[in-house]
Amino acid sequence: MSLERTLTVRVERISRQTPEILAFELAHPWGRPLPSYEAGAHIDVHMPGGFSRQYSLARAPSAASAGRYVIGVKRELASRGGSASMHERVREGDLLPISAPRNTFPLREEATHHLLLAGGIGMTPLLAMAQALAARGAAFTLCVFARSEEHLAFADALHAPALAPHLRLHLDQGDASSQRIDLRSLLAQRAPGTHLYVCGPGGFMQAVRDAAAHWPEDALHTEYFAAPADAGAVTGLPFTLKLARRGITVPVAADQTAVDALHEVGIDIPVSCQQGLCGTCVVEGDGEGAEHRDFCLTGSERRHKVALCCSRAKGLELELQL
Ligand code: FES
Repeated sequence: MSLERTLTVRVERISRQTPEILAFELAHPWGRPLPSYEAGAHIDVHMPGGFSRQYSLARAPSAASAGRYVIGVKRELASRGGSASMHERVREGDLLPISAPRNTFPLREEATHHLLLAGGIGMTPLLAMAQALAARGAAFTLCVFARSEEHLAFADALHAPALAPHLRLHLDQGDASSQRIDLRSLLAQRAPGTHLYVCGPGGFMQAVRDAAAHWPEDALHTEYFAAPADAGAVTGLPFTLKLARRGITVPVAADQTAVDALHEVGIDIPVSCQQGLCGTCVVEGDGEGAEHRDFCLTGSERRHKVALCCSRAKGLELELQL
């Protein structure tokens, strides 16, 4: 396996958004524009202590953003080190290696209305998407779920004139009559052409999925921070990878991932999260023949793509365009 090429950015500004969330503005060290991206994209941040985490870009690309990136980092109580490292060890002026932006959560061109549901820090990609939609005059609604106003990150951007008419806030500790969104009634009916995008903590994602269980799969788009608690293992029965372009087969043992098996024969597939979340390891292949265990591909993408860090063959063989 291999890590993707990195670039170095300078931490231009750190601002506290809530008691638990800091925003980091990242710029090119010599003032050049950073690589362009589309709303919904994320980057890998390689931080002090050897940790690497994915963070969504929380601002739509625009002339005003001057090629800079903004990420929001919530300090997790159960941090395995990543969010604690960002909060405690990273300071303004520091240089950080990051990956180029990658987008597995894009806005769908075919949608006639976009319904964006954000839980807590999950608002970061959806904020960028809402800004992009507002800039192009598209029809959208942004629903943000937070504990209270005090726990609402990027409040200035949310309340900006371009977004305010599209914003619905659900505050757990807010005024019960005016600031509650009932997911079941919100999602009970789907107007034709509406696409639903959701990002937030695991429980929130599940609640949305349950309430939208009757929505067509291709109209529901999710971005997970971590694999759901009930996610299956990435190992399983042995199978064979058939590499169509090379004309060879590669065995995958029961305790191996496809990425590991390919690495053993000298074929390096770039990886990042290794949990099926980020899309870095996705390749073209016979998706119909795969047992998909990722959380980043849509139903239609799964017909011809496979995330090799976690997915396996349904049967004895899986063909890939490698
Ligand atoms: S490495 Fe992230 S989806 Fe496979």
